[in-house]
Order: sequence, then C-alpha cells, then structure tokens
Amino acid sequence: MIVALGWRGVWGMLGSRFARFASFAYRPHTVIHHLRELRDRDVERHLGHNPLGAMMVFAFLGVLSAIAVTGVIALGGMLKQGPAHAFLSYATGIQALQWHNLLAYLVLAMICLHLAGVAYESWRGHENLVAAMITGDKAGLVEEASVVPVRAHPLGALATGLVAVTLGVSTVVQLSGRPAPLVPPVVTDPVFAEQCGACHLAFPANLAPASTWAQIFQDLQHHFGANASLAPDQVATARHWLAANSAEHWDTLPSHILRTPAPDGSLRITDSPGWRARHHAITASTFAAKPIYRSSNCVACHADAASGMFAPQNIAIPPLKGPNSPAP
Ligand code: HEC
Ligand code: HEC
Repeated sequence: MIVALGWRGVWGMLGSRFARFASFAYRPHTVIHHLRELRDRDVERHLGHNPLGAMMVFAFLGVLSAIAVTGVIALGGMLKQGPAHAFLSYATGIQALQWHNLLAYLVLAMICLHLAGVAYESWRGHENLVAAMITGDKAGLVEEASVVPVRAHPLGALATGLVAVTLGVSTVVQLSGRPAPLVPPVVTDPVFAEQCGACHLAFPANLAPASTWAQIFQDLQHHFGANASLAPDQVATARHWLAANSAEHWDTLPSHILRTPAPDGSLRITDSPGWRARHHAITASTFAAKPIYRSSNCVACHADAASGMFAPQNIAIPPLKGPNSPAP
C-alpha cells in the first residue's frame, strides 16, 4: 500500500493532466458551489474529478497514509519488527494498533460513501461516471478541447519512483538492522539452556514473571510430576539467569502478555491469563495430538519459540497425525 500511495504521489505531480493534484485541488467555495449545483440539478461538467470526488481522493490518500504510518508504528512497537522497532515502546505500538483498526473501518465507510457518491453524481449530473472510470474517457466540451494539454512524464515519474524505492528500501534495511532496546538476548546462559532444556524447551526467561521462576526453584524434586533436581551450583546459575531476564525486564509482546501469573497460583505459563486468551480457540484434542502432545510444547507451533519472540509469521499448527500415538 505504501508503494501504491507513493506512486500516486509521484503521478500526481508528473502524470497526465487529470491525474495531477493541481488539476483537482479545488477551493472550498468551489466545493460548496458544486453542492448547490447538485441541489439545483444544474451541474457543471468536469472532465477530471469533480469537486466532491476530488475531496474524496485527498481523503483516501490521507487516511490510507495514516493506516500505513500506524501500521509501521504498531509493527515496530508491539512486534519489534520493521524500520521503527528501535524507537518505539510496546505501549505506543498498542495505541497505534487501535488507531490502525479504527482507520480501517473508516476506509470501509469511505468506500461506501464513495460508491454512493458516484451513483448520486452520475444520476444528478447525467453522466456515466463508472464507464468513464473504466475507459478513462468522457465526451469533451468544445472549450475544454482548446486548452493546451498538460503532458505526462512517464520516464521522469519512473525515475523518481525508482530513486524513492531505493532510498526507502535502504533506509528500512538500515533502520531494521538497529538493535532494539528491551528485547531479550538471543544467547541464553549455557547452564540454564542445558539443565532446563533437558526434558522440554528451555523456556525463554521472558515468558514468566520473576515470582513464578522463583517458586519453580522451591521444589524441583516435584516439578510438574517430574524430578528435575539439579546440582546446587546449576540451580544457582539457572535461578539467577531466570530472575535477571524475567518478563518484567522486556518490552516484547510475549513478555507483556505473559508477565501476569495464573490467579490460582499455578506456575504453568500455559495457565497464565495472557496465554489462555491467545490459545482459547485451540482445542484440547489438537494440543494432545501427535506431533504436539501438550500445550507446553511451544516449538511445535512457534518456530521461533527459543528466541522468546513468538512472531505471528512464525506461527503454524503442524499437520496432526491422530490422537492415538503415544507421547514421547
Ligand atoms: C526431568 C525433566 C525436567 C527438567 C530437568 C525440567 N523440567 Fe520443567 N517440566 C518437566 C515436565 C515433565 C513438565 C510438565 C510438562 C507438561 O505437563 O506440559 C515441565 C513443565 C515446566 C513448566 C510449565 C510449562 C507449562 O505448562 O506452562 C515450566 C515453566 C518449567 N517446566 C520450567 C523448568 C525450568 C525453569 C527448569 C530448569 C530449572 C526445568 N523446567 C527443568 C520436566 C522437566
Ligand atoms: C497447537 C499450537 C500452539 C502451541 C503448542 C502453542 N501455541 Fe502459542 N499460539 C498458537 C496460535 C495459533 C497463536 C495465534 C493465536 C491468534 O492470534 O489468534 C498463538 C499465539 C501465541 C502468542 C501471541 C503471539 C502474537 O503475536 O500475537 C504467544 C506469546 C504465544 N502463542 C506463546 C506460546 C507459548 C509460550 C507456548 C508454549 C508454552 C505456546 N504459545 C504454545 C499456537 C500454539
């Protein structure tokens, strides 16, 4: 959409006569005059956009640009992806997402208004605007024909577009490569990774609050039905790693939604309200089926689980192989 908007911007300055912004940047009083004409059924013809249609074009360009900007802000703030990820907080991203959604509904409303406007103008102005939109032709007026035509500059527009794309892509690549603050480290403590990763995924520390991690170490002998006892020095290392990197320390989406522990005191990540809210649509039989086996097997569906990021583009429920295969 950003590319389409950018191209319309270039074509609005270097395009053909009726595509140029200057040809339909009407003054407010012209718009009001046009409304009066519609009321009186005596509408002056416009070979390009009529004043109301022109207002709609600018409104669309504005709202679609705002959707693009809020999208980039939401992507950067919430998911720590894209060109804005190094500068924005999760809270800013959430706010931008709300605007982003609201604006999407606004565009739907504008589309309805626009279609209604086309129908109304066609009827009141005795002009088939839909046909004109498809063919690009309207029967001209004599005085219009004598106006010196404004020439389009397709090569100039293409060159401007290419320069803009090159600058845009290199800026995005450069900005996307910046380190984002408050994103958990990729490298985990080796002792923690080996000891707490012996039986299951070494759950990234940002998936639970410090209080949950501390309580897990209170009884490793009775650890969710398994004996996970470790040597004292290993316990100390793992405990320190988890405390120092728990959910409260980071600004990522998983660390925000999973930092609230289960209200009933359960120490499972999969019992936390944030986890439940995101997975309520997945049935127990899906979690139980091969090759998932249990809801705590995050990697089965989240290819990037080990990084603690859980990005939407890395989510895929694998093909299920039936419930009767025994769990490993
Ligand atoms: C001896 C094997 C073993 C070791 C070692 C082990 N765990 Fe576990 N862990 C389990 C089992 C079994 C479960 C329960 C899995 C289930 O029912 O989904 C579990 C569950 C968990 C859960 C809850 C997952 C959920 O459902 O949300 C957490 C958190 C956890 N382990 C953390 C740790 C940490 C931290 C360490 C290192 C100190 C560790 N585990 C070491 C076997 C082990
Ligand atoms: C059966 C597959 C499956 C398993 C297993 C699973 N998830 Fe998910 N998870 C999903 C799906 C599907 C979504 C997307 C839900 C949605 O947005 O509608 C999701 C969403 C999420 C999100 C939100 C991501 C976002 O960008 O909105 C987080 C965080 C998350 N899961 C964490 C976990 C953790 C932690 C575990 C393991 C303890 C886990 N998941 C296990 C399927 C799974």
